[in-house]
Amino acid sequence: MDLATLEALRSPAGVPSHPAIFLALGVVTWALHIMAVHVTLGSLLLSLIGLNKGGDQAAHWRRLSYMALEHGKIGVSIAIVLGVAPLLFVQVIYDPFWFVSNVLSARWAIGFIVLLLVAYWLLWLHYGLVRKAGEASASVFWGWISFALFLAVGFVMHLLTSQMLYPDEWLQWYAPDGVIDASGSGAHAYNPARYAFFILLSLPVTGAWLLGCRQYLAGRAEEDATYIEFLRALGVRLITLGGALAVAALLVWMLTLPAKAAGFAYSPWSVLMAAAVVVLIVLGHKVASGYALAAVSLGVELTAGVLREALRLDILYGVHGYNPLNYTVNMDWYSTLLFFITFAVLGGLALSFMLALAWQSGRTRGVYTASPLIARLADWTLIASLAWVAQYFLFGAWVLLR
Ligand code: HEM
Repeated sequence: MDLATLEALRSPAGVPSHPAIFLALGVVTWALHIMAVHVTLGSLLLSLIGLNKGGDQAAHWRRLSYMALEHGKIGVSIAIVLGVAPLLFVQVIYDPFWFVSNVLSARWAIGFIVLLLVAYWLLWLHYGLVRKAGEASASVFWGWISFALFLAVGFVMHLLTSQMLYPDEWLQWYAPDGVIDASGSGAHAYNPARYAFFILLSLPVTGAWLLGCRQYLAGRAEEDATYIEFLRALGVRLITLGGALAVAALLVWMLTLPAKAAGFAYSPWSVLMAAAVVVLIVLGHKVASGYALAAVSLGVELTAGVLREALRLDILYGVHGYNPLNYTVNMDWYSTLLFFITFAVLGGLALSFMLALAWQSGRTRGVYTASPLIARLADWTLIASLAWVAQYFLFGAWVLLR
């Protein structure tokens, strides 16, 4: 497909800020999305494995299983919310590619929501059954089905992202041998090694997360030292073995890139990615602070975000000439400022409140009473939310009446 046709598919409204802002935000928010995805997948896996595990560490596995299930349950919500942000950004600067990919596989794109809904409901069913069974052996059947559906959800995202990279194939996919196939049921381009890399990365990331949990629990009074050691050993093992598997998948992905991007395998980006995982593995053995390791794992996610973006630019700009940065800008200061202020003030306050509350209450044994600082944070979060809603309606009214 020639460049003029690709550019004609752009939104005639242009973009409301410099495209570089959308590009950078896309990478950063995707890294946050995938961090939540990875902690969720890893936690669910550990929980499912640990629930009915026997042996002399059965009690530790059972305790971990309950904790990991809570993390997985909350993590899914965070992953979904954080998935929306990169979805918006990719639609803004790569709309010619994203929407064609979605239309070509429309059944998959719509099925994504159905799969996600069912996976989410089954997770709650599993959660309810586990809670009901208490210490008794609980069935993990629905939990495994839910886990498999979450993997399928990730695969759909992988499919839609991959198909974007083949504009020269779109026509053939839409009308194979000249006969139009408007069913939207085809899955046209995917790379199992790329998908495996993004899924396997959940093992080292969850390992680092576990080490963070270990440090948090170690700060509690009268904590069981053998459980703390169990978490440490498991976290380091996950980082090491999972990290090695992820690097192997990365290698296969790089060796199976489409011919038009084969050179990318030897670019600094792919080397940087492998190095980031290796650094996490090495630090996992050397650094005692679990919080620091969790922060390093976020750095690994950011590197993965940069790698994906570099590959996309390498193909769409390098091969097809599409430059997302020359999108027409129709500067809209109000929405740009509103976005950043919402992010920093409202997001900052609400997140600080929720994290501080969870942090302090988790460290408390028995009934927790919020400190005055937390109570004030709650007030300010509410005030900021109300102010946001008020500006939304006032600005809308001003636009209508002016
Ligand atoms: C909870 C299950 C989910 C899993 C396991 C998952 C997993 C993934 C994976 C593995 C990728 C990378 C694909 C690749 O680059 O090959 C990805 C990308 C992405 N995901 Fe998710 N995801 C989930 C849910 C969501 C949800 C609910 C949304 C949106 C509301 C979302 C939005 C995105 C976006 C926008 C991208 C990147 C698109 C792009 O830049 O090309 N994801 N996801």
